[in-house]
Amino acid sequence: MNAGQLVLEPQRVEHAAEMFEVLSDPAIYEFENSPPQSLAWLEERFKRLEARASPDGTQQWLNWVIRLPTGALAGYVQATITRDRTALIAYELSSRFWRQGIGGAAVRAMLSELTATYGVRTFVAELKERNYRSAALLNSAGFERVGPHRGDEIVMQKVLAHAT
Ligand SMILES: CC(C)(COP(=O)(O)OP(=O)(O)OC[C@H]1O[C@@H](n2cnc3c(N)ncnc32)[C@H](O)[C@@H]1OP(=O)(O)O)[C@@H](O)C(=O)NCCC(=O)NCCS
Repeated sequence: MNAGQLVLEPQRVEHAAEMFEVLSDPAIYEFENSPPQSLAWLEERFKRLEARASPDGTQQWLNWVIRLPTGALAGYVQATITRDRTALIAYELSSRFWRQGIGGAAVRAMLSELTATYGVRTFVAELKERNYRSAALLNSAGFERVGPHRGDEIVMQKVLAHAT
């Protein structure tokens, strides 16, 4: 999948070594989560995710790594598609690549792919309220805040109008 000059490649175990470097950037985890424990752990995780589905088969788990024109990987974008064809999205980029339009372009390309190939019209993101970078990306991609706080988390959503 092409996103301007970016290429989104379906994530595979072969990406794990390079992604281990990308995801070991502590800046990514300022608000939540933590870096991969080891390369072996990440390989195991990527291997499982290659099934592209939850173990019970009810959800599609889609992950793409973001390939830059230089050949380097910048991070990943991710979507969990539920039975009602809602997609819960997430993304992480190494901080070396922040504020260059890369995350936004990758997310927009993923949303287009989710609509075109999987019929998704409702996109949801759950984030820490303090995560202003993620909120800015989502605002720019047309998401709006919905529902009450869930502890320190908020939910943002984008719903596409149905073509008439
Ligand atoms: C969130 C993240 C993916 C943004 O990636 P990015 O490549 O820097 O985003 P972009 O450069 O494409 O910016 C997208 C929009 O957000 C805005 N934005 C991004 N970072 C911002 C910041 N620090 N302050 C203000 N606005 C910001 C940009 O201005 C842009 O808005 P525009 O389209 O109106 O110009 C990146 O910061 C990241 O990986 N963070 C750590 C992981 C994380 O928090 N993931 C989300 C968990 S819910």
